Amino acid sequence: MKVRVKIRRFNPETDRKPYWATYNVDADPSDRVLDLLVQIKAHQDGSLTFRRSCAHGICGSDAVVINGRNRLACKVLVKHVGKNIVVEPIRGLPVIKDLTVDMETFFAHYRAVLPWLINDDPPPYAERLQDPEARERFDDTTKCILCACCTTSCPSFWAQDSYLGPAAIVQAHRFIFDDRDQGAQVRLAILSDKDGVWRCRTIYNCVDACPRDIDITRAIGEVKKAILLGGVGSS
Ligand code: FES
Repeated sequence: MKVRVKIRRFNPETDRKPYWATYNVDADPSDRVLDLLVQIKAHQDGSLTFRRSCAHGICGSDAVVINGRNRLACKVLVKHVGKNIVVEPIRGLPVIKDLTVDMETFFAHYRAVLPWLINDDPPPYAERLQDPEARERFDDTTKCILCACCTTSCPSFWAQDSYLGPAAIVQAHRFIFDDRDQGAQVRLAILSDKDGVWRCRTIYNCVDACPRDIDITRAIGEVKKAILLGGVGSS
């Protein structure tokens, strides 16, 4: 089938403003949008710039806006988006070139929530055991691949990029509700600050955008509740 791919392009070093470029591509319905980008770069315009690594929905590096929705280009099939495909960079982060954005703000917010296990107890002889019910409490938020689809679909982040954003809160949730971790109070203090969870207006864009189907708004709600209760509690 013939597919028309319209891409928002911009090279800050040579262009005064972004522009649209259109490419006609032969595609199979089962091709992924990422395949089309690779084909365009290989056969039509080698200067087209985008990120990708695994091509299998794991690394999170190819988040873009496809027909108006934040998606991983490697997980969207042509048959699901039709013959006219519009691809743009994710919003709210500076464009380095074409579909590649500067992720530094995003990862600074990630680092700000201390996304690692904090436990000052002496290490046990073997692993730190955890029962299945305790593990289940934060299972959903372990699925995050840091693609930024959620944060860059969030109007609160667009309005104020100092807002830590849904991805950072999801990462914090993963450790706050881990009963082996001892850093919950520190993280809750960070997240109760002016750029933390209270900037979430429960818009649900993040839930729609997440390629891992994480119930992000629920996770943010659980963090808000923990802040209000002064701790994690038992459920
Ligand atoms: S290229 Fe790794 S998630 Fe798409």
